[in-house]
Amino acid sequence: MEGLQRCRYWFNGVSLFFHPLRLVLLILVCFGNVGAAFYNLTTIPFDQGYIPLFGDGNLVRSPDGKGVRLLLDRFTGSGFISSNLYNHGFFSANIKLPSDYTAGICVAFYTSNADVFEKSHDELDIEFLGNTEGKPWRFQTNLYGNGSTNRGREERYRLWFDPTKDFHRYSILWTPEKIIFYVDEVPIREVVRNEEMGADYPSKPMSLYTTIWDASSWATSGGKYKVNYKYAPFVAEFKDLALDGCPADPIQQIPPAEACAEHYTHLATQDYSVISPQRRAAMNRFRQRYMYYSYCYDSLRYPVPPPECVTVPAEKARFKDTGRLKFGGSHKRQSKRKSHKRNRAVPNSDNAADI
Ligand SMILES: *[C@@H]1O[C@H](CO)[C@@H](O)[C@H](O)[C@H]1NC(C)=O
Repeated sequence: MEGLQRCRYWFNGVSLFFHPLRLVLLILVCFGNVGAAFYNLTTIPFDQGYIPLFGDGNLVRSPDGKGVRLLLDRFTGSGFISSNLYNHGFFSANIKLPSDYTAGICVAFYTSNADVFEKSHDELDIEFLGNTEGKPWRFQTNLYGNGSTNRGREERYRLWFDPTKDFHRYSILWTPEKIIFYVDEVPIREVVRNEEMGADYPSKPMSLYTTIWDASSWATSGGKYKVNYKYAPFVAEFKDLALDGCPADPIQQIPPAEACAEHYTHLATQDYSVISPQRRAAMNRFRQRYMYYSYCYDSLRYPVPPPECVTVPAEKARFKDTGRLKFGGSHKRQSKRKSHKRNRAVPNSDNAADI
């Protein structure tokens, strides 16, 4: 199944199948190592790593204890949080998004410490932005460090599959050197830390948050399409949770580099820490096909791209100086987000990026 979907993504036209060279490639791609799931991935039962965050009645554990369903109805959304904060780590879940009409709904999978450091929080985001019927779900990734909320680093994408039909793995790897966002085993974004980023690179312990909430004011086409509770409850499913971080006290005295040295070494040797040449090729293909907004190419917003930006000519050629696509611009009305994804109405705040 996974292999087939990957094939669809790389070989969009049926006719390509009949080109002999491409057929060989296809076989390599679909049945070779690139398609393997993360090697040696350890998953944990829900209660072993997480606790409900809000909307308890709308958080439904699966009978086998390995997953949960998060519901949004007209009364409340719901969410869970990791029981610990972590100094770096790999955060991952198999997720199936609500189907049918889901405009205005945000399903977020993110790490943050906004509850501990109100003014100087760190954050890493994967946010799904709802859809209108028949339209694909869109999603974005973002990062903040030490309260850099006026410097959004959003990228927005489509997916190469329907995320409401099957479970797919979404992951965030955060090490002292780099951040990688994954969809299944395709790295979709890599942020390599550099000195110039300074404290914008997330560096304090964070918790993992997962939420579903009513984001009518901004999620879908910039708030044009609202949540329609005729279709409630909206259900997002999570299972096979992986949480491989170095548990930390956010205000501990021991510098994290010492306390977590062993864990850094462990993280660095894991399969998901390595972007093989095949994975890098898949990442480039994904970004050239499915990314439709990048802050790095938004020169109106950032005349000088932020220091971690790596300009890829083939990517850049697709974007206008607004960071939006030159063609197929049905994404113009995307806008506004805010830093705190709880179940509460948040006005457009100062960190809102006009995407
Ligand atoms: C992080 O932000 C706080 C509050 O704005 C500031 O005092 C501190 O110096 C910053 N830390 C770094 C490493 O820049």
